Amino acid sequence: MPPMLILGIESSCDETGIALYDTVAGGALLSHALHSQVLMHRDYGGVVPELASRDHIRHVVPLLRKVLSDSGRSLTELDAIAYTQGPGLAGALLVGAAFAEGLASSLGIPTVPVHHLEGHLLSPLLSKRPPKFPFIALLVSGGHSQLMHVKAVGEYRLLGETLDDAAGEAFDKTAKLLGIPYPGGPALADLAEFGRPGLVKLPRPMLHSGDLNFSFSGLKTAVLTKVHAIGLPDDQQRADIARGFQDAIVDVLVQKSLRATEESGLKRLVVAGGVGANRELRRLLDQQAGKAGITAFYPELEFCTDNGAMIALAGALRFQAGKSIKPAGAFVVRPRWPLTEITG
Ligand code: KG4
Ligand code: ZN
Repeated sequence: MPPMLILGIESSCDETGIALYDTVAGGALLSHALHSQVLMHRDYGGVVPELASRDHIRHVVPLLRKVLSDSGRSLTELDAIAYTQGPGLAGALLVGAAFAEGLASSLGIPTVPVHHLEGHLLSPLLSKRPPKFPFIALLVSGGHSQLMHVKAVGEYRLLGETLDDAAGEAFDKTAKLLGIPYPGGPALADLAEFGRPGLVKLPRPMLHSGDLNFSFSGLKTAVLTKVHAIGLPDDQQRADIARGFQDAIVDVLVQKSLRATEESGLKRLVVAGGVGANRELRRLLDQQAGKAGITAFYPELEFCTDNGAMIALAGALRFQAGKSIKPAGAFVVRPRWPLTEITG
């Protein structure tokens, strides 16, 4: 297949991301731009869907202009436009999808609707040291926590998933309990670095459940109980609790991911999604994986959380595999959409 130039648009939640990817010579990300709405939603303690949609509308064109001018390429050179079709907030998805379909229509090129989690899953392929297929993937974002067997692009088998809160959600909710503003996950991780190890002991939910599922909502309750027992925790106590929480969640994620990899007989483990940016998760995983002869792969830090680059990449790979290309025009978005539905 001749090289192609593809635009990627991400707008599933509170980040507008646009990127330009060229498949020439093994693939190159030419430019990418991101606008995060985090500060806008902070006052409300979480994402306000209507505000999110409006903000995507405000930023999609300026970001596109930036990506084109940074790369020195023009719209007429595009071969296809990929965009996040779901899962996510319906209104937010509609902005990216309608913009992509309209632009592609005017240019007379096809579109590639992409599953947001497939974008996360394939994002380590953008790194300097990309993994080869097949691999096991730990997908840990704000809305999902799953272990997947990834055979090739579009061939995914679910091995286990969270029965309640996602890992990122658990980080965010626990942060809120400790008085850290939304989205508290990264700040909670920073606070945990000042915590003393082993001082606050929390349970390791479902570590010995015999399957590859997770459950994180109990951890939040355990933290709440600790906070109530102390009354008004001081800074050191808050850091100790953050440390206890992070150690518990990281321990479960690492042990279950390595178990999944060992059971599969594979030697490659990919970590993707926002929580994949967590330093302690990376440290412990590298250490434990090394002992088991397994290599862990991560996306670059900037591509752990939502971005347009992973959507452009997933779109390019799907296009090249002849999957999900469609003529521009009519479209649907899929706010709820299991990743396993796109397999095959
Ligand atoms: O993948 P992502 O950007 O969005 C979704 O698709 O959900 O993930 C966002 C999640 C949030 O819950 C955020 O708190 C969490 O990832 N997160 C982290 C870190 N950075 C982002 N959690 C723990 N440690 C971090 N360093
Ligand atoms: Zn995401």
